[in-house]
Amino acid sequence: MMVPAFGTEIVAHRGASFDAPENTLASVNLAWQQKADAVEIDIYLTADGKIVAIHDKTTKRTGGGKDKPVVEQTLAELKQLDFGTWKSPKYAGERIPTLDEILKTIPEGKRLFIEIKTEAEILPELKRVLTETGRPPAQTPLICFSYDAIRAAKELLPDLKAYWLVKLEKDKDTGRLNHTAAELIAKVKAAKLDGLDLGNSPPLTPEFVREIKQAGLGLYVWTVNDADKADEYRTLGIDGITTDRPELLRERFQGKAKP
Ligand code: G3P
Ligand code: CA
Repeated sequence: MMVPAFGTEIVAHRGASFDAPENTLASVNLAWQQKADAVEIDIYLTADGKIVAIHDKTTKRTGGGKDKPVVEQTLAELKQLDFGTWKSPKYAGERIPTLDEILKTIPEGKRLFIEIKTEAEILPELKRVLTETGRPPAQTPLICFSYDAIRAAKELLPDLKAYWLVKLEKDKDTGRLNHTAAELIAKVKAAKLDGLDLGNSPPLTPEFVREIKQAGLGLYVWTVNDADKADEYRTLGIDGITTDRPELLRERFQGKAKP
């Protein structure tokens, strides 16, 4: 299951976040309408131990200006905030969604990439919510920047795919990347993860992609809003491309198979 119609998965970053307020039901549902293969969301724990979708640690930027950490607010408090107006008056009154509310929207054959923004303290509740929904494990891959947290997630939920998020950076003096492909591959294998989800800036080179794919790992990339670049990655055989603009990429990929 879960093989997208045209090979490389189009993953809607925080939902269809170019058009709608990120990490809301509006952006998630718009992504499904725009024919994304998957949606990516970010998750945090609330003060009363519930899981909500939001990118930042606090509600300042997207929650109407309240500069308070999510973890210090209960779900009921968070639900009173407006997560839509910052994007457009059209979305005024949009509420913060729980993970559970988002899971209920996933159409058959589509997936939800869940980015863990905390350390491992969220995992027991994550396991509880995922178990309760009864979704097939293949439908909810996990991603995380924290190596320790993604390793712990894979140990607790071994049936789920788990990808380590890494931001590649070039040293401005030497021009060398902060990680070699070989280093990343070794760390992914040591933690029994399924692969990597890498930043697109600087762009991944064909050699870097080839090395990771030849190691038998899954490879995703974020965030690609340029259709030409996305098409280039598609031809390199990258498994999924995370984008704010799923509609744009869908138009470009129409009828094209993964090489
Ligand atoms: O899909 C991975 C990507 O979302 C990681 O960066 O800051 O958008 O969560 P960020
Ligand atoms: Ca994210």
